[in-house]
Amino acid sequence: MNTQLQNCRADFPILSREIHDQKPLVYLDSAATSQKPKVVLDAIQEYYQLHNANVHRGIHVLGDESTHIFHESRQRIAQFFGATENQLILTRNTTEALNLIAWGWALDHLSEKDVVITTEMEHHSNFVPWQEVCKRTGAKFEVVSVTQEGLLDLQDLSLKLHRKDGLRVKLVAVVHVSNAIGTRNPVELIAKMAHEVGAMVVIDGAQSAPHLPISFPSLGADVFAFSGHKMLGPMGIGGMIVSQHMLEQMNPVLFGGGMIDEVTTDLTTYADLPDRFIAGTPDVAGAVGLAKACAYLTHLNMNDVEQYDRELVVYTLEKISAVEHVKILGSLDSNKRVGSVAFLLDGVHAHDVAQVLDSEGVAVRSGHHCTMPLHRKFAWAASTRASFSVYSTKTDVDVLVSGLEKVKSVFNLG
Ligand SMILES: Cc1ncc(COP(=O)(O)O)c(C=O)c1O
Repeated sequence: MNTQLQNCRADFPILSREIHDQKPLVYLDSAATSQKPKVVLDAIQEYYQLHNANVHRGIHVLGDESTHIFHESRQRIAQFFGATENQLILTRNTTEALNLIAWGWALDHLSEKDVVITTEMEHHSNFVPWQEVCKRTGAKFEVVSVTQEGLLDLQDLSLKLHRKDGLRVKLVAVVHVSNAIGTRNPVELIAKMAHEVGAMVVIDGAQSAPHLPISFPSLGADVFAFSGHKMLGPMGIGGMIVSQHMLEQMNPVLFGGGMIDEVTTDLTTYADLPDRFIAGTPDVAGAVGLAKACAYLTHLNMNDVEQYDRELVVYTLEKISAVEHVKILGSLDSNKRVGSVAFLLDGVHAHDVAQVLDSEGVAVRSGHHCTMPLHRKFAWAASTRASFSVYSTKTDVDVLVSGLEKVKSVFNLG
């Protein structure tokens, strides 16, 4: 393994914390939000300490520096996804990016003759906006099923794409990597299938961007949305890479300063693409932090990051499968999953599992992970999820497994 990756844990100051009577913090909640390396924290502080000024407006040194830094950061973020700056729209997070497509494109392009397809394994962020925009436009909202193994049913997708009811599929929205069961979906194939019937393709990349090398052109999609805070960057910044085809059809959703060309009392014209989607003062420090996170991940090498994640997933599946009374959710084939392992413990509520683990210093997430349709389908009241990032180790997994033995003894599970 890449030695930089092997030694990177030391770059994350928070991981040296001890909690609950000096137990080392074992952070296995990176799918909710990742920790930040010191270079990202420093970059944000340096921006505010030395360069802070509003962009595009001031004709002074700091204004020029800030504008230059903002554009450079945008370029670096776009490059990380194999795209160019004019294909990048920065938002607060994945949720905002997906909503921008729903309200800036779908609202004006859908009618009763159209269909939007999503899937049962979506995070609510890639489900509710489509459900809502369909309600308002009269378009049909359809949901592709997930198989018992936790994979997308591609036959069901094909049936929903090739319709016999005369309706047209206008958009397919699918998650790249499930945050609930870790499934990695074949998004390149899905994009090809959807484009064959003329539909736009939106990929929720919130959980793939931190773990997989992403080349937007190779995905063949129209939109790839991501959150900075899940990929070692700060909270409050994220975005999407958008195809020219989609960009040209989108309308601004937020109006005001920064996004205009000319304003008169009769009429306003808008700035060029993609500036017309940046209304008001942008989060420059957030962009700086995210660009630094992208540089940090690039330095670790995303192919190695992917490989390292796979090793951790293989190890976790093996160790957790050996714990009696535990049922792993999703596919047991590590080639089909990325980033996390969720499970149920017989007769113990997920919140109780998480609370006992917390007392052992282990941070995991419990609940429905914003995937209620999936949890409801399989009748899981709630699940417990351990999720990884570049700083996670097999030792973290070992502590988790000992913690599970403690949970079992607290709840008298043999
Ligand atoms: C797959 C997936 N999509 C979307 C989101 C929403 O991300 P955010 O809250 O950063 O908008 C998440 C967050 O957990 C996620 O895991």
